[in-house]
Amino acid sequence: MVGMSTATEPASVWAHARRTLSGLPDGAGLNIAYEAVDRHAAGPRARVTALRWLDRRMSVSEISYAELADRTARFANALDALGVRPGERVFTLLGRTPELYVAVLGSLKARCVVSPLFAAFGPEPVAQRMHLGDAVVLVTSPALYRRTIAPIRGRLPALRHVLLTGPARPDVLEPGTHDMAALLAQASPDHVIGPTDPQQPALLHFTSGTTGTPKGALHVHEAVVAHAATAREALDLRADDRFWCTADPGWVTGTSYGIVAPLVIGATLLSDEGEFDARRWYTLLERERVTVWYTAPTAIRMLMRRGAEEAARHDLKALRVIASVGEPLNAEAVRWGAAVLGRPVHDTWWQTETGAIMIANPAGSDVCPGAMGRPLSGIEAALLQQGSDGRALVDPDGHVRVLDGQAQGELALRAGWPSMFRTYLDAPERYARAFADGWYLSGDIARRDADGRYWFVGRADDVIKSAGHLVGPFEVESALMTHPAVAEAGVIGKPDAVAGELVKAFVTLRAGFEPTEELRTELLGFGRQALGAVAPKEIAFDDALPHTRSGKVMRRLLKARELGLPEGDLSTLEVNT
Ligand code: WT7
Repeated sequence: MVGMSTATEPASVWAHARRTLSGLPDGAGLNIAYEAVDRHAAGPRARVTALRWLDRRMSVSEISYAELADRTARFANALDALGVRPGERVFTLLGRTPELYVAVLGSLKARCVVSPLFAAFGPEPVAQRMHLGDAVVLVTSPALYRRTIAPIRGRLPALRHVLLTGPARPDVLEPGTHDMAALLAQASPDHVIGPTDPQQPALLHFTSGTTGTPKGALHVHEAVVAHAATAREALDLRADDRFWCTADPGWVTGTSYGIVAPLVIGATLLSDEGEFDARRWYTLLERERVTVWYTAPTAIRMLMRRGAEEAARHDLKALRVIASVGEPLNAEAVRWGAAVLGRPVHDTWWQTETGAIMIANPAGSDVCPGAMGRPLSGIEAALLQQGSDGRALVDPDGHVRVLDGQAQGELALRAGWPSMFRTYLDAPERYARAFADGWYLSGDIARRDADGRYWFVGRADDVIKSAGHLVGPFEVESALMTHPAVAEAGVIGKPDAVAGELVKAFVTLRAGFEPTEELRTELLGFGRQALGAVAPKEIAFDDALPHTRSGKVMRRLLKARELGLPEGDLSTLEVNT
């Protein structure tokens, strides 16, 4: 087929997907916010509900596409009035509240780069990310400002403006802090999105590696082509759907599918301010007649633990599709979904770097329990032969070996799909190392069966997946080592039946400190204070952390010890085997 253009060739798949979008009027480019909001507001969907938001008490507010266009226009104009220019970075630190959607989409209208942060992060991860990302504007709530921002504001000299989503105590306010509602009220609702090159940066998502600072994966406006196409293909999302994505907006799923994709498709987006609670979730699914539900394996396992009786009390017949992402989905959970929720759970695989779903058991086709599925249209996946470090073997000429048929190797994707990240912020060499021979190297190990389905095997590196959240061990170790008692720390993911993994730290103490229960409690509290939700849940004292010859803590050995495996027997650490 070489040289021939067929309907399944990536270029024609994406060209076709691009044609389902409008593009800015007069050929002025492609802007995510225009596709998600303005084109609907200007057409027959103007009065359709874009956002149905449930507050903590489950009372509902609705925002139509026309209203969302108004508010996001005001937000863009407010940024302009504050002197914020296209290309500058706007961060959000918010739970699921209407202001989140307005800030993200309004920033995209203003052609700023927007970076939503996880509101459960403590001050340390937030300071690091805002510093790395040159945050110029932050949108947050007064409570989060007090808890997370006030302690670090002095470390963020580039931060010119803070927009608060509610009234704040005057004593916490520094110059440059504004009331978002007042700014929106003063701003004009008339706004025309400026020319936007599809390759212009739009979204910044931080992700963690094994070492060093978090990586800022930068995505461009063109990503919207993949957001919409993959939501259609993998989730079967349609304009008349009521779609609920449970991911936190601070992680990439919460943006790509929690904000952008459903709005581009013209669906109604459900958003729940509350946290997980089995009865609340079932009530929401039933009462809101959710048709497509995108969630995480940990959530499914929490529902499973609650038992089938709770599910049986609710009418879930409106549910057409259940899908999950972020961590291995056990075959048992897929079948439980079919038996108890009335629909199997469709596993999907992707990463912060890929921006959109790459591999899936697509809605509407048979699910293979335990498998991640097959590459979506326009995506070419491969398994690459691994070297001794577990990563793809790259020969001196820069070539990799693509494995055929049933095989196991590093999962790679042919570079060039629209939502592919375009760089790691300020780390071009790190970006370059993520590719070889035209392939993006995912860092995941997978195998392929005789039917061409991909199965997750494990990570090639030490990053931790806890409740679907990617946690960098280095970030946790560094935070612990700022405590005066800690000489050294090694952090691993400890297998957990519900969360997949729990963050566990092994700590060596400095001379003069005793490994007491009191100190353990203090260190757990210290970790929580600094790191928030990604803090270690368990700390063990260890006076002989294993090291490599170059002096690095050998986390894999710590993990083997934790699992009671013979030291060095790391092959058995893989998941799902
Ligand atoms: C890592 C990426 C993009 C949303 C998810 C979070 C793991 C993702 C699956 C799956 C097994 C999965 C991988 C991947 N992962 N989906 N279906 N089965 N593992 O993105 O935080 O960048 O994490 O999540 O290890 O590399 P992320």
